Amino acid sequence: MAILITGARGKVGQAVINRLHAAGLPVRAASAKPAELAVPSGVDVVEVDLSRPETFPDALDGVRQVFLYPQPEGIDAFVETAQAAGVEHIVLLSSSSVLAPDAETDPLASHSLLVERALSTANLPCTFLRPDAFASNALGWSYFIGHGLPVQLAYPDAHIAPIHPEDIADIAVEALTDTALRGRALTLTGGQSLTFREQIAVLADVLDRDIPVETITHEQAEEQMGRFMPAPMAGSLLALWAAACAGPAPIADTSQTLLGTPARTFRQWATENAAAFTAR
Ligand SMILES: NC(=O)c1ccc[n+]([C@@H]2O[C@H](COP(=O)([O-])OP(=O)(O)OC[C@H]3O[C@@H](n4cnc5c(N)ncnc54)[C@H](OP(=O)(O)O)[C@@H]3O)[C@@H](O)[C@H]2O)c1
Repeated sequence: MAILITGARGKVGQAVINRLHAAGLPVRAASAKPAELAVPSGVDVVEVDLSRPETFPDALDGVRQVFLYPQPEGIDAFVETAQAAGVEHIVLLSSSSVLAPDAETDPLASHSLLVERALSTANLPCTFLRPDAFASNALGWSYFIGHGLPVQLAYPDAHIAPIHPEDIADIAVEALTDTALRGRALTLTGGQSLTFREQIAVLADVLDRDIPVETITHEQAEEQMGRFMPAPMAGSLLALWAAACAGPAPIADTSQTLLGTPARTFRQWATENAAAFTAR
């Protein structure tokens, strides 16, 4: 019986597909844009756009477990179709932001919270993975670093415990293939708290060159980020980073505590992804 992996082009989705396929399990890769998907040969590919319920029935036919990216629009239809198809367990890629006191009204947190609530209401067995910031968010600096420009930040001294997407994939695979993590809601971080400035220093060391950091105002950052994301989302992220200047980020569950394997470090992520920071 197949395991459906949504968000198959995403960093975590891809890694989950590769691991399950390598373990010989029947995997169905679901993407909103299947034509752009590269999967190992032998992996089934289906179109699933989580905001378009008409794409659900064929994709869920014969599926017993799902690795789900959160998309509130369409989640009720997804749950209904999954239950009708006989799905027995869903592992949700949620977010630690759902734990914030203002999660209901925060545009970032409410996205994942609404999906968690829909799944809980449906009484479908679920595992909620609630990662903190991904190490791969550093890719947002790649253009500036690649072009020798300073990285402009409003809160360079915000503390984050970035998690390597491959650690999330390892934990997701454990939740899909073993019963120990099943049914739990797990807050996930990397193993070390680093400020943005410290992350950039790691990148500078890996790339063997200086990367200047320039502090800009909250308003300047809001204006810059507003070009790439809705203004409320930019405001929400900036508020999060302002608060994160207070002190080291708490370390929650990691691949070490859950799987007994050392959490991948930010330096490891930076080394693996160094090519993304050179100008093209
Ligand atoms: N980045 C962080 O720091 C962080 C922290 C906590 C939680 N998260 C959560 O992790 C998830 C991925 O994070 P990311 O930003 O790093 O992105 P990512 O891994 O690059 O994944 C994005 C993927 O989501 C899939 N997707 C988007 N809209 C979809 C839709 N309507 N229907 C189906 N699939 C859709 C797309 O896959 P396909 O096109 O292949 O379908 C896309 O490749 C997000 O849900 C985010 O809330 C991220």
